Amino acid sequence: MALLIKNIRELFGTEKIPSGTKRGKDMGVIDSVRNAFLFAANDTITSFGRMEDLPDGMTAGLTDLEIIDASGRFVFPSFCDSHTHLVYSGSREQEFVDKIRGLSYEEIARRGGGILNSAKKLHAATEEELYRESMVRIHEIAGLGTGAIEIKSGYGLNTGDELKMLRVIRHIRENCPLEIRPTFLGAHAVPEIYRNDRESYIDLIINEMIPLVASEGLADYIDVFCDDGFFTIDETERILMAGMKYGLIPKIHANEIGFSGGVQVGVKYNALSVDHLERSGIDEISALLGSETMPTFLPGSALFLGLPDPPARLMIDSGLPVALASDYNPGSSPSGNMKLVMSLGCIRLKMTPEEVFNAVTVNSAYAMGIQDTFGSISEGKIASLIITKEIPSFGFFPYAFGSNLVDRIILRGKIWNPAVE
Ligand code: NIG
Ligand code: FE
Repeated sequence: MALLIKNIRELFGTEKIPSGTKRGKDMGVIDSVRNAFLFAANDTITSFGRMEDLPDGMTAGLTDLEIIDASGRFVFPSFCDSHTHLVYSGSREQEFVDKIRGLSYEEIARRGGGILNSAKKLHAATEEELYRESMVRIHEIAGLGTGAIEIKSGYGLNTGDELKMLRVIRHIRENCPLEIRPTFLGAHAVPEIYRNDRESYIDLIINEMIPLVASEGLADYIDVFCDDGFFTIDETERILMAGMKYGLIPKIHANEIGFSGGVQVGVKYNALSVDHLERSGIDEISALLGSETMPTFLPGSALFLGLPDPPARLMIDSGLPVALASDYNPGSSPSGNMKLVMSLGCIRLKMTPEEVFNAVTVNSAYAMGIQDTFGSISEGKIASLIITKEIPSFGFFPYAFGSNLVDRIILRGKIWNPAVE
């Protein structure tokens, strides 16, 4: 099977040699090819370049060939969403109303709402029901341009339900054309029955959950909600160390609620990413400089919860890379729309259209460990792509924040047809 996209007005995110990440000033730079073609064989990009360089006879003799004329349209690599909780049951619009009436996220959590509310709903759902609900969300985000996604457990909070969530993630991985990376987040909240004995819950995570998750190969990453009112620095360290012993790589929630020290702990354990960071300043920036940890912002949840914005500008101007992700979850970000995340990056975080593009492609690919196969248009990478509608300019894409500007989606070299999938 082969795919030729020709007459592309501009092909964005091209790389002759994949750079890994974009940091500092380079975040404002995107390589592109005007009047371009892109050729994919099976699921892989095998060549791209200017139309005048399209080799004659490149497609001669190919029987299973699809040709798309992308005149007037842009082509992007598909978005990588490096932080989500997409597997959950039901929804929490009652808490949405509670928040409108003045309750804070922490107050709702203390009353047994929040994460614990989702844990109850998840407990009541069968694996099959969870799978079906989650697949609806997968289809929704695929249509919005996401081609790769990290999904966390963390609404189980007991061994059986955590494994149930991770098995659902595996089932999704086996049955959809998106790239999926699973993360174990047993340390998302302390369940009610352990409220006065949190130590026992941490022991359960370390001595039972992690070994089981690892023995079934159900996760690549280990996450901890390291923040005020959730898990302390010491607890986080113990849980990360236990996970690392089993080959799980840290990727943590930090500094959403307070200056928790989570960023420093993440850096200390060489986390792939530290995410949220609404409460960050000079100390967090100095910890990140010189590290290989990707600071990741989740502007959808900052917007939804009315949190302060993280210092994105200061981080980029200090030379750091940054990634953006959706945090798709029922409590703090009931949206997996990465185009909206780009717009919020521009509007709230004062990032330029070029910076948000790099933050949702190459840098978010790094933040989920898939930079060798996703995140840019590069020979040998997976042909998961977005073909835009006819729009006046590149900047129009994040500017028109409420419009769906996707014309067609290509996933693994194939035109994605939502009616069939
Ligand atoms: O990333 N901050 C912790 N966890 C999620 C929220 C989960 C929930 O409220 O259900 C987040 O915002
Ligand atoms: Fe999250």
